[in-house]
Amino acid sequence: MSDRYFVIDLSLFDLHTDKEKKRLKLQISQSIYVAEKYKIKDKLILTGVSEKTKNELAGYGIKQKTYSNLKEFLKGVDRKIFLVFDPNASDVFTEGDIESFDIFVIGGIVDTAKDEKKTTEYLSKIFEKQGLKFARKKVLLRGDIIGVPDRINMFLEMLFKIIYDKLPIEKAIYETQSRKIARWRLRKELKNFVEVRYENDKNVRIVRKEVFEKIKEWLNIEYKDFEKVAEEQGIKIV
Ligand SMILES: C[S@@+](CC[C@H](N)C(=O)[O-])C[C@H]1O[C@@H](n2cnc3c(N)ncnc32)[C@H](O)[C@@H]1O
Repeated sequence: MSDRYFVIDLSLFDLHTDKEKKRLKLQISQSIYVAEKYKIKDKLILTGVSEKTKNELAGYGIKQKTYSNLKEFLKGVDRKIFLVFDPNASDVFTEGDIESFDIFVIGGIVDTAKDEKKTTEYLSKIFEKQGLKFARKKVLLRGDIIGVPDRINMFLEMLFKIIYDKLPIEKAIYETQSRKIARWRLRKELKNFVEVRYENDKNVRIVRKEVFEKIKEWLNIEYKDFEKVAEEQGIKIV
């Protein structure tokens, strides 16, 4: 297989607020750090970078190779197909995809409290307008995007673990999952284990302690996360 490249596309950089841009720049520099750890710093590429954005990145100490658009980069490495990671895609990413693709594109997008679903899809439309052909796939953890690290640097680290450390997707997710992201998934998961008990003349929703042992095998949670989420949802641990 020819060299693999990992692209962060920053075509939507200017749609971010200043605060978001700062977080985005931080995530990019952390991505470079992770790529360095895997000795593939020169394989991490930034595309969709205008002169203005380039200066802004440089001011932050980011001197990674940039291209004004993805098409220009692809031309330079003589490649035509690539994979765009998109949480809203219909197709699901599998370990087999690392053999079928050698260019992996991640949206240079930072989410805030606003509803920003489908931003990566919007980015894909820009690629389509450039006449590019590509596949779009989502990464799932046991059937759901919730629980998959979505910060760019964490997402990339997960990908490097799958590709270079040969970890199964679930294990790579576990190793890069923050406790905050794990708690979000726990909030969805816990209701599947709730039982209702009749105590002191009323129905009480309970969850057994053993459930924690079961869930912690695949979610990066500590017991205090389990307690916190149960309390939030009015569930008693027995
Ligand atoms: C913070 S996410 C932005 C997601 C954006 N709000 C959306 O819904 O399209 C940044 C990037 O990480 C990648 N990403 C994060 N989670 C993903 C998932 N579960 N599947 C595929 N790509 C994901 C995508 O490339 C995405 O553009």
